[in-house]
Amino acid sequence: MARCSSLSVLLLLTVSTSMSVSTFMATHVGDEAALLAFKAAAISGGYRDDPLASWNGSTGRYCSWEGVRCGGRDQQVVALSLPSHGLTGVLSSAVGNLSSLRTLNLSFNRFSGDIPASLGRLHGLHALDLSHNAFSGQFPINLTSCINLKAIHLRFNQLQGCVPSEIGDKLTGLRVLSLENNNFTGVIPESLGNLTALRALSLAFNHLHGNIPSSLGDITGIQYLALSFNSLSGELPFSLYNLSSLQELQLQKNMLHGRIPADVGSRFPSMRTLGFSGNQLTGSIPDSVSNLTTLQHLGLDDNRLSGHVPRTLGRLHALRHLDINSNMLEADDRGGWEFINSLSNCSQLQRLFLYDNAAFRGELPSSIVNLSTTLQSLCLDGTGISGSIPSDIGNLVGLQLLNVEHTSISGVIPESIGNLGNLTDLYLSNTNLSGQIP
Ligand SMILES: *[C@@H]1O[C@H](CO)[C@@H](O)[C@H](O)[C@H]1NC(C)=O
Ligand SMILES: *[C@@H]1O[C@H](CO)[C@@H](O)[C@H](O)[C@H]1NC(C)=O
Ligand SMILES: *[C@@H]1O[C@H](CO)[C@@H](O)[C@H](O)[C@H]1NC(C)=O
Ligand SMILES: *[C@@H]1O[C@H](CO)[C@@H](O)[C@H](O)[C@H]1NC(C)=O
Ligand SMILES: *[C@@H]1O[C@H](CO)[C@@H](O)[C@H](O)[C@H]1NC(C)=O
Ligand SMILES: *[C@@H]1O[C@H](CO)[C@@H](O)[C@H](O)[C@H]1NC(C)=O
Ligand SMILES: *[C@@H]1O[C@H](CO)[C@@H](O)[C@H](O)[C@H]1NC(C)=O
Ligand SMILES: *[C@@H]1O[C@H](CO)[C@@H](O)[C@H](O)[C@H]1NC(C)=O
Ligand SMILES: *[C@@H]1O[C@H](CO)[C@@H](O)[C@H](O)[C@H]1NC(C)=O
Ligand SMILES: *[C@@H]1O[C@H](CO)[C@@H](O)[C@H](O)[C@H]1NC(C)=O
Ligand SMILES: *[C@@H]1O[C@H](CO)[C@@H](O)[C@H](O)[C@H]1NC(C)=O
Ligand SMILES: *[C@@H]1O[C@H](CO)[C@@H](O)[C@H](O)[C@H]1NC(C)=O
Repeated sequence: MARCSSLSVLLLLTVSTSMSVSTFMATHVGDEAALLAFKAAAISGGYRDDPLASWNGSTGRYCSWEGVRCGGRDQQVVALSLPSHGLTGVLSSAVGNLSSLRTLNLSFNRFSGDIPASLGRLHGLHALDLSHNAFSGQFPINLTSCINLKAIHLRFNQLQGCVPSEIGDKLTGLRVLSLENNNFTGVIPESLGNLTALRALSLAFNHLHGNIPSSLGDITGIQYLALSFNSLSGELPFSLYNLSSLQELQLQKNMLHGRIPADVGSRFPSMRTLGFSGNQLTGSIPDSVSNLTTLQHLGLDDNRLSGHVPRTLGRLHALRHLDINSNMLEADDRGGWEFINSLSNCSQLQRLFLYDNAAFRGELPSSIVNLSTTLQSLCLDGTGISGSIPSDIGNLVGLQLLNVEHTSISGVIPESIGNLGNLTDLYLSNTNLSGQIP
């Protein structure tokens, strides 16, 4: 009896082992077939050595193929990661058969054609990175079935059509949605405000129009929001000023109008880049901007801003770029130039663009020579400044670019300009400078 029962246990064991072996083999065959179909479609032209040379016929070994990672009890493919592999064909719909896939990273290749709808079958997918390819067609709406997605990177492709509002209804676990540099048209769906886990949203460099939905103000943890280089219009919804975690807000080159709220300085304690350039903003630069003390890049250029520049801007100790050119900002001998003096406290300043502000008048403040020696670009062209170039201009030893064209600057070119060993671009035409070039 004892023998018999132990024998049956043994038998049972053998049976169950061989069963699990056969399921193992079955998934193996499915995943391997899908990978081989992927490879066949991904390679075209053969302009260089086979980028997937390790993907060869040794059946059952695909877990060791380059870019393939397996996991789980069944050793199924959980990651397919082949960035920058010179892949030039199309993405086979067979990737939709890799049913345990969590990561698909094919960035920096030359895939073209549609993104297959079969990706919608990958319910475990966490991260999809197809950025920097030549994918065309529409956003694969089927992807909204992948409700576990945390990151979608599709930037730098040629996708067109609208940004589907289903993204906002279904993919509520998303932390990153990057669709920049495509050909998306239409409006920004209001539903994106449902994506409250988002940390980064980029829709920049597309052809989107209409208003920015105020629902985006619901994404309270967002750190990076880029909507620049579209055709967005209307006022910036006030709700966006509630996004206190923002570190970068990129809104350049749209058609936004309205004023910057007076209390902007108390709303973004972590802001590093504030990009409002190339819009139609009016009013003055609020004094409170000086309270955004983490700011490194302030881009307010190419708007219709007027009034004086806040005299306390020098409180922005981390400031590197200050672009306030191409506005209607004002200063003259009675006041308005104090900010130059204050900027001498910005010890990392690299770029100061004041050009094309005709209402910057009066003598160029001599305290300009006290700006940081890190300054590389100083552009004053197209302003109404007069007076002379301060004799200590040579203090600004980091200068590479100095432009005072089309101003009323007069007098002689100071000899100390010879100290500017890194100066490569010096523009002095259409001024009233006289004398010799030292
Ligand atoms: C992918 O799965 C489908 C449906 O299960 C099947 O018809 C197809 O042959 C599979 N493709 C590959 C390449 O394994
Ligand atoms: C198959 O790939 C392995 C590496 O995974 C490589 O060592 C071997 O040379 C390859 N065989 C052929 C025929 O390309
Ligand atoms: C994909 O791979 C590239 C290159 O290694 C990497 O920079 C990128 O972060 C990866 N994408 C994701 C979503 O992890
Ligand atoms: C689209 O996704 C659904 C849901 O996962 C799936 O049933 C369907 O097969 C997918 N479509 C294609 C063409 O794979
Ligand atoms: C994308 O848009 C640009 C500019 O509108 C256009 O030149 C280009 O042909 C478009 N590409 C595609 C794939 O539609
Ligand atoms: C998503 O947002 C839209 C518009 O803001 C709203 O009508 C819809 O109910 C939201 N959907 C979910 C699932 O929360
Ligand atoms: C901003 O947040 C405050 C406090 O949380 C809230 O009362 C207010 O309604 C919000 N404003 C907008 C425009 O969303
Ligand atoms: C800057 O912040 C300080 C301290 O929070 C506050 O007292 C001051 O009024 C703010 N300045 C402006 C111009 O808003
Ligand atoms: C520079 O900062 C110091 C200390 O914060 C301050 O006392 C001084 O007035 C500032 N200088 C200018 C020119 O703003
Ligand atoms: C430059 O700064 C120094 C030290 O703070 C000061 O003594 C000097 O007057 C300033 N020069 C100009 C031209 O403002
Ligand atoms: C001049 O340029 C060189 C090379 O870019 C750099 O290493 C050096 O620090 C610069 N000098 C100054 C004074 O900024
Ligand atoms: C140079 O000075 C002359 C005479 O003062 C004036 O007419 C002319 O407009 C000035 N040129 C510039 C570019 O400011």
